[in-house]
Amino acid sequence: MTAPSKQAYVPFVSVANMMKLVLYVGLERVLTDLCAEIEDDFRRWGEFDKTPRVASHSDVGVIELMPTSDGETYGFKYVNGHPGNMKNGLQTVTAFGLLADVQTGYPILVSEMTLLTALRTAATSAMAAKWLAPKNARVMALIGNGAQAEFQALAFKAICGIEEVRFYDIDPAATAKCLENLKGSGIRLIACATAEAAIEGAQIITTVTADKQYATILSDNMVGTGVHINGVGGDCPGKTELHRDILLRSSIFVEYPPQTRVEGEIQALDPDHPVTELWQVITGVAAGRTAAAEVTLFDSVGFAIEDFAALRYVHGKVAQTGFCEQLDMIADPDDPRDLFGMLLRSA
Ligand SMILES: NC(=O)c1ccc[n+]([C@@H]2O[C@H](COP(=O)([O-])OP(=O)(O)OC[C@H]3O[C@@H](n4cnc5c(N)ncnc54)[C@H](O)[C@@H]3O)[C@@H](O)[C@H]2O)c1
Repeated sequence: MTAPSKQAYVPFVSVANMMKLVLYVGLERVLTDLCAEIEDDFRRWGEFDKTPRVASHSDVGVIELMPTSDGETYGFKYVNGHPGNMKNGLQTVTAFGLLADVQTGYPILVSEMTLLTALRTAATSAMAAKWLAPKNARVMALIGNGAQAEFQALAFKAICGIEEVRFYDIDPAATAKCLENLKGSGIRLIACATAEAAIEGAQIITTVTADKQYATILSDNMVGTGVHINGVGGDCPGKTELHRDILLRSSIFVEYPPQTRVEGEIQALDPDHPVTELWQVITGVAAGRTAAAEVTLFDSVGFAIEDFAALRYVHGKVAQTGFCEQLDMIADPDDPRDLFGMLLRSA
């Protein structure tokens, strides 16, 4: 059997190589770089094919495909959300993804995206807060201390200058894990016994819990004026975190309305309730925060362009560092029409 040709191989970033890459570049550097990459792609929003992600729901969770293309490169992510997984020792969210050359349709990168999703979600959250949060915000409440939590804390430190994070989770072991993992981070870490205690003195409130139902992580009386809410955990039909009354007095910013209206906190509102698209704030087409007393809400659900930007970043870094393996992934017969002959000759 002859060895596969050069065209057969696609660079593959395993979990082990993603960890090496992130630690080599530096965690806060990666978060800052991803924030810049995602912001660049939000600035050229009009160049992308956009579609709400394709979701397959079950009683226990969701499996989604998230495609987009800028005409030169195509990307997609496979991602799941299974809030019950954790008690069985499994991740709530796992993901992998791919980039391909639009000219030939040939894949140019395959990558793990469980870690990359946590990184890009945190970078996107901090990017939104950069535009929307009160100036000089230094304290953030972080409610939900699971897999995504430390990434959120570090992104807000690196990108928004957050100095103190106040943690709350229904499971104190999750909070203890965050405090242990972040002890050398330079962030002032406060464990709180209730969500109310966590939001005391916080200018930014991040909710990143997982539950396959409508939950009320924040009720209306808990949210004072002038704060920015980064709502990350409400990202599926029937799965939200904020009381509707908070939405009614917030200025709401979203990624892609056709997707967020189905999946985000705003599923609780009328379908024509006014929202602002984040890309419009970044390009100056729409205003972000306009008053100190305003409550701003980033109703994050995660959009394909963020994953595309993250994969493009990894593609560039892999070319520089070689942190990948080559997968024999594309059948490449000598004569393109002789796929069958290639199979016969392999016997
Ligand atoms: N918006 C996005 O782009 C995006 C991206 C990734 C993940 N997510 C979502 O973020 C959420 C968190 O993901 P994860 O991987 O960290 O999940 P995880 O299961 O690892 O952690 C969730 C944590 O929330 C805690 N929790 C549940 N109910 C709570 C409550 N009422 N109050 C306080 N804490 C509570 C759990 O104890 C757990 O520690 C999920 O809902 C996931 O779907 C969103």
